[in-house]
Order: sequence, then structure tokens, then C-alpha cells
Amino acid sequence: MLRSWVNRKLQMNRQSIIIDCDPGQDDAVNLLLAMASPDELDLLGITTVAGNVPLNLCQRNARLMCDIAGREDMPVYAGCVRPMVRKLITAEYVHGKTGIDGVEIVEPRTPLQDEHAVDFIIDTLLERDPGTITLVPTGPLTNVALAMIKEPTIVERIQQIVLMGGAMREGGNYSPSAEFNIMVDPHAAHVVFDCGRPITAMGLDVTHTVLSTQARIARLRDIGNDAATATANMLDFYQRYDQLKYGTDGGPLHDPCTVAWLLQPELFEGKDCNVAVEISSELTMGNTAVDFWDVTDRPANAHWIHTADADGFYQLLMERLHHYG
Ligand code: BDR
Ligand code: CA
Repeated sequence: MLRSWVNRKLQMNRQSIIIDCDPGQDDAVNLLLAMASPDELDLLGITTVAGNVPLNLCQRNARLMCDIAGREDMPVYAGCVRPMVRKLITAEYVHGKTGIDGVEIVEPRTPLQDEHAVDFIIDTLLERDPGTITLVPTGPLTNVALAMIKEPTIVERIQQIVLMGGAMREGGNYSPSAEFNIMVDPHAAHVVFDCGRPITAMGLDVTHTVLSTQARIARLRDIGNDAATATANMLDFYQRYDQLKYGTDGGPLHDPCTVAWLLQPELFEGKDCNVAVEISSELTMGNTAVDFWDVTDRPANAHWIHTADADGFYQLLMERLHHYG
């Protein structure tokens, strides 16, 4: 009796999520973190989008993470091969040729679903009760925006969107003004930031504070299971680019800030702000104009996260990767 009450309670408090991603080592770590947290997160499926590398590699990489997590049953979908308007930009210079350099690439056991990612997002939102699904985009926002355009009735059914994208104080990492995910598909980002549903945005202001230092990678490696070793290997490769660029000890673990926030929001601090995306000027294309000091009359449309407890964040990641036994 007590056990079934506890189970029911657990189910009730679990958040149903869809992760839309472009793995990318940091997307990959985010997937491992989410799949290691089944008590809190009901991961309904993983949708992939062209971004860090072309789509065929992103969907393959997501499936490889499901293999490593022992979740070959996880539905993985391929989505859009290019942004809505602009030509695709990829980031092999950061992530390597495969997108997840650092791990061994084999043909994944986890199958690719036939349905298009955009249709999976639409169908799932229409099937489930309104206000029960959180979207977690960690790549360009093409799939999410196209789902909203193809079936506008889904928008009000979205519980919230927790995304990695944008930059304010940090400036851009792709151009002086723009963060990579927003730069790749600024038009999609414009649609999403305009959608009217609650958005929590993890921009570079916060992700640049959660660095995968040598000491943290060593502790991850010490865990000793496949998922943790894959994480340490990927981060060893991934950090070299940002380390050189910024002169930091380690690289920023951008995308896992999304799932970490869902798991332990108390690790982060943010402020409700208006965020508008530049889609006209080529010079500042993809800039996220964050009205942090309320100097316009534009209403707040996002919770802009600016601060993280980096030690707490890595503690959470390590504790969850331990679950892979
Ligand atoms: C974002 O761009 C990609 O390179 C990362 O995966 C992350 O989502 C950081 O700007
Ligand atoms: Ca990403």
C-alpha cells in the first residue's frame, strides 16, 4: 500500500521531457545525465537536428549515447537537415569530425525511428495532457520552431521550454554578437522566444562558468563505469578548443545546464527578462538582446539564467553518472 502510494507520488512528480539536440559532446553528456535521472525525468524521446555536425551524425551520436546508457529502447528521431532560412553552419572545429570525438564510434544498437522529429514533437504534445511536457532544446531551434509552425495548437500545450542558447554579458562564441545555437537558426530562435510559453534560457553567461577542469574530468574518470569513462574521454577532447580560445582550465559544459536546472534549480540564479533575437542585421545576426535592466517596455518572455554553483553542478553530474553501475 505504502509502496504503491510512494510510486504514485514519484510518478506524479516526474517531469515528462523531450530533448531536442545536435550531439556534440556537451549534448551527449546532457543525454547521459537525463537518462541517469529516471526518478525525476520521464524522457519521452530524443529528437535530433542539424547543428554541431550534419543531421546523419547527430542522430547517430544520440543513438550511441542510448547504447552507452543501456537504453536501446529510447526512441530517437531525426529532424531538420538545415535551418529555416540560412545555410547550415557546423562546428567540427569544436567537436571534431564525428561531433563526439573522444568516444569510439560504432554502428549503434539503438534504432532510428521512422517518424520525423517534428511530427514526434507534435504528436506527443497532442496525445498527452496539456501542460505536461517540457521541451529541452540544446541545439539550433529549427525542429521546435517548425513544430510550432506546422501545428500551432501545440504551443499552448507546452508546459515550458528549457533551452541552451544565447549570450548577453559574455558576448558571442560564434560571432562577436551571437552564440552558436541561435546563430545557426536565428529565425527559428525568433519563433521560439516569441511563442508565449515559459522559457528558461541557459546562455553563455552561465554556461561559461561550469568548466570541465582537469580535476573534474579526473574525478569523472575515477567513477569507472562506461558512461562516466565516455564522458571523461569526450570532455578531454572537447575542452581543448575552449581552453585555447579562452585560456581557461577546461571548457564550458553548456548543454547539461538544462537538465541540471530541471533536476536541481537551486543550483542556478536567473531573472525574468525580455529576450529578442536579431534576424535583420548581418553584422549582429543571432544576437540575443536581453533586456536585463528592464529598459524597454517589452514584456518578459524568458527566465535568463546568469549564475550557477559550478561545484554543485559537477557534484550532481558525478552523482548521477555513478548510477550507471
Ligand atoms: C552550444 O553550441 C554547441 O557547440 C554546443 O553543443 C552548445 O549547444 C554552445 O554555444
Ligand atoms: Ca548543442
